[in-house]
Amino acid sequence: MTLGQVEQLDQLFKGNFIMGHEGPRVAFVGRSNVGKSSLLNLLIGSQVAQMSRQPGKTRAIYFYFWEQGKKIFVDLPGYGFAKASKKDRESWNKLILAYLKKDPCVDHILLLLDSRHGPTASDEEAMQFLNLLSIPVTLVFTKVDQLKTQKQRASRYKEVSQKLLEMGFQSDRVYWVSSKTKAGVPELIKELKG
Ligand code: GTP
Ligand code: MG
Repeated sequence: MTLGQVEQLDQLFKGNFIMGHEGPRVAFVGRSNVGKSSLLNLLIGSQVAQMSRQPGKTRAIYFYFWEQGKKIFVDLPGYGFAKASKKDRESWNKLILAYLKKDPCVDHILLLLDSRHGPTASDEEAMQFLNLLSIPVTLVFTKVDQLKTQKQRASRYKEVSQKLLEMGFQSDRVYWVSSKTKAGVPELIKELKG
C-alpha cells in the first residue's frame, strides 16, 4: 500500500490497526498462497492485507477490524511455504500455534484449503493441531473459480468429503469460495456473523 492517501487515514481511524484490542477474533489459517489475505480483503472491502503471487507474502500476524461483522480478523503467515528455509518454516508454524493457544479472544478459525488440490499433507497436519485447540474450525476451500466445470466441482466435493470422513475431521461447516468471482462469499459472511 502506498502512503499519503486520505482514504488510508479513514482506514486507520476505522480501526484497521488494532493490535492488542479485545473483541471476538477470527483467525485465517492455511497454506502459503492459498488466498487468506485475498479473502480477508474481500470481506473487509478494502485492500488492507498484502497479497502476492509469490508464496510467503504475509510474514507476521496482522489484525484488521471487520466493520460489517464487528469482529477482528487475524491474517496469519501461511504454513508449508516450500521455498522458505526449514528453520523459517518451523518458526512460522510455532508462531501460528503459539498465537492460537495464547489469544483467548480467538473464537473461530477459518482453515483455508485450495479447492484445486483438496487437503495436502501440510493441511492434514494443520487439521490435527487445530483439532486439539477446541476452537470451532470452519473449512473454506478457496479458488473455486479454478474448477471450471460442474463435473470437476462435483468430483472434488465428493473426494474431499470422503477424505474428511477418513481423517475423522469434525466440521459440518465447509464452504467453497472464490475471491475472484465472490462465489460462496455471502454464505460465508452469514456464518461469520452468526
Ligand atoms: P501468504 O501470505 O503467502 O500466506 O499467502 P495468502 O494465503 O495470503 O495468499 P494471497 O491472498 O496473497 O493470494 C495468493 C495468490 O492467489 C494471489 O496471486 C491471488 O491473486 C491468488 N488468489 C487468491 N484468491 C483467489 C481466488 O479465489 N481465485 C483465484 N483464481 N486466485 C486467487
Ligand atoms: Mg497473506
